[in-house]
Amino acid sequence: MKILPRKSFTGEFAIPGDKSITHRAIMFNAIAEGEADITGALLGEDCLSTAACMRALGAKVEIEEGRVHVCGAETLQDASLDCGNSGTTMRLLMGLCAGKRVSVTLTGDASLSKRPMERVAKPLRLFGADIHTTQGCAPVTVRAAKLSGREVDTASASAQVKSALLLAALGADGESFVHESVKTRDHTERMLAAMGADIRVLGNMIRVKKSRLKCCDVEVPGDISSAAYFMALGALLGETLCKNVGVNPTRTGILTVFDKMGVEYRIENERTVCGEPVADIRVKKSGLKAISLTKEIMPSLIDELPVIAVLCAFAEGESVISGAEELRIKESDRIRTTADMINGLGGDVMTRADGFVIRGKSSLAGGNVDPCMDHRIAMSAAVALMASEKGGEIKNAECVNISFPGFYDMLG
Ligand code: S3P
Repeated sequence: MKILPRKSFTGEFAIPGDKSITHRAIMFNAIAEGEADITGALLGEDCLSTAACMRALGAKVEIEEGRVHVCGAETLQDASLDCGNSGTTMRLLMGLCAGKRVSVTLTGDASLSKRPMERVAKPLRLFGADIHTTQGCAPVTVRAAKLSGREVDTASASAQVKSALLLAALGADGESFVHESVKTRDHTERMLAAMGADIRVLGNMIRVKKSRLKCCDVEVPGDISSAAYFMALGALLGETLCKNVGVNPTRTGILTVFDKMGVEYRIENERTVCGEPVADIRVKKSGLKAISLTKEIMPSLIDELPVIAVLCAFAEGESVISGAEELRIKESDRIRTTADMINGLGGDVMTRADGFVIRGKSSLAGGNVDPCMDHRIAMSAAVALMASEKGGEIKNAECVNISFPGFYDMLG
């Protein structure tokens, strides 16, 4: 994909559905009693992997003209599940299958097969789950076993790990408590409560009792992680309005970054849809200041860090991002791939074990980018190239289909 530089960029964008909420809406309805319609769902490759897995487990998941119709299967069948590139699919299904007492094998593509799965398997074993990983990674096998309620900690600040434990707890006898040291995205807690689960959130602790779920229609808001590219273009090049974006406070770290960088933005038309806060976000071209980010904020902006790093590359001064070691185990090692991408375009990024030091410049030359098949690196590169002097080409650009089919068309 060839991206030409633009002197200015202005527009209104209807942002596609939230990936995390779409995964959950399909999965949870697929194990609940009844039927549900999901509107605004993201039909990217990751969520399609979730839909295919839930079908293999015995639920009915139909996709027609952007609408997803799910018929829940309260009893699941044993299956072989291909999770594709999707960490959310694999990790949540480990907990879900353990809780539903079903035997499955979970596999993934080359990238997913390198990502750590013991962070989920280990705490699940405390409930009594019978789970094997392959040297810590996929293929993962789950064998049917009886689970008992437990009190567990998520050792990593990960919503995927937390969600897997909550799903297992739904099927465990008695009562369970899941603690997290830093609050991560809470879409699972909100949706399970809406579907009738006996779940209570008390600060960073969640109490769950064995429960059955009832299907619930879901209207999925736009994904702030997808809006982030258009928000960044507004800040760099003109003015953008991203409409119907989820602004759950566990996801809005990028707005805190905007406050620190001096980006002018406005939240408009705030409302609540299916228990999730939603709004339109208007961002205007601004002089950008360097920032310093540490561990606590990471869960609320983890997927936005590559594009935040691009903003830092254009900011005045030296930005320091630390406590971001989770980036090492995403679809690519995003500390390395983000730094290589920005440096390849003429930027100045030094990597650290847990983040970056980025020296801002008034301009980037541009050049060609290999995003290493990582959707978020490709989209961040597109932003950087549009704001660069001469633009450039993105290799294997179609990898954006994982989370944002139609990204380049929208940009066009
Ligand atoms: C997700 C949680 C995050 C995020 C991923 C989606 C989720 O991962 O990076 O894109 O839907 O729960 P971790 O929870 O592992 O940080």
